[in-house]
Amino acid sequence: MMKIMKAQDYEHASRVVANFLAAQVLLKPDCILGLATGSTPLGAYQELVKRHKEGELSFAQVTTFNLDEYFGLPPEDERSYHYYMHYHFLDHLDIRQEQTHLPNGMAENLEAEPKRYDGLMHQAGQIDLQLLGIGLNGHIGFNEPGEIINDTHVVDLTETTIESNSRFFQRSEDVPRKAITMGIGTILRAKKIVMMVTGENKAKALKNTILGPITADVPATLLRLHSDFTIVADAEALSLVQDRLDLAEI
Ligand code: F6R
Repeated sequence: MMKIMKAQDYEHASRVVANFLAAQVLLKPDCILGLATGSTPLGAYQELVKRHKEGELSFAQVTTFNLDEYFGLPPEDERSYHYYMHYHFLDHLDIRQEQTHLPNGMAENLEAEPKRYDGLMHQAGQIDLQLLGIGLNGHIGFNEPGEIINDTHVVDLTETTIESNSRFFQRSEDVPRKAITMGIGTILRAKKIVMMVTGENKAKALKNTILGPITADVPATLLRLHSDFTIVADAEALSLVQDRLDLAEI
């Protein structure tokens, strides 16, 4: 079932998403979290770091698996998702670093890396809560429109995604063309999914996700097949569906 929670703005949405993650960790200290990068979850990560520093929340027993990683960027490269996760979140927690996982974009055998990553997830058990953002084209993780691949796999990024990511790179030629991502099946296997969507530029993708037909052309629509799927969005992101759904603010 899909649930939609309408927040006032980015800060409010960030607090709500932080609440989801914090509640999960409090209820099950040894939970497995599926995590995302990008600009969207930064506020939620900041809020969780704050709560940890205030002594409210321990991540000592938590395990994490990230959705995706670029191919060819080493962990110390500021633009890699490894760097992002450590810089913004993991390094500020009491989490055991060996319990934190991202696909290895520097794997010598790129073809073998998805299997290795799926193996690790399989060993750890079911993800309790998977956090997601959404791309302008409706992608989740780096599952781009058009094709459903269930397991972790290597992808060629689409032009839209490369363009949208080019803000982090000096030259668009520098944006990686390939990435490793959890598949749709991997994501749908999580017990609970929370997707955070903010800003006017996501309004169209969100409208398609909520009201459009369930199709591989908008990968996020497939989340509607999940039994516990919550969207936390701000008013701007919901601007194109507000009239149709009459959502009350939380
Ligand atoms: C990130 C990820 C992507 C982003 C999406 C939105 O790990 O998997 O699907 O969630 O591209 O990115 P932002 O939040 O930067 O708009």
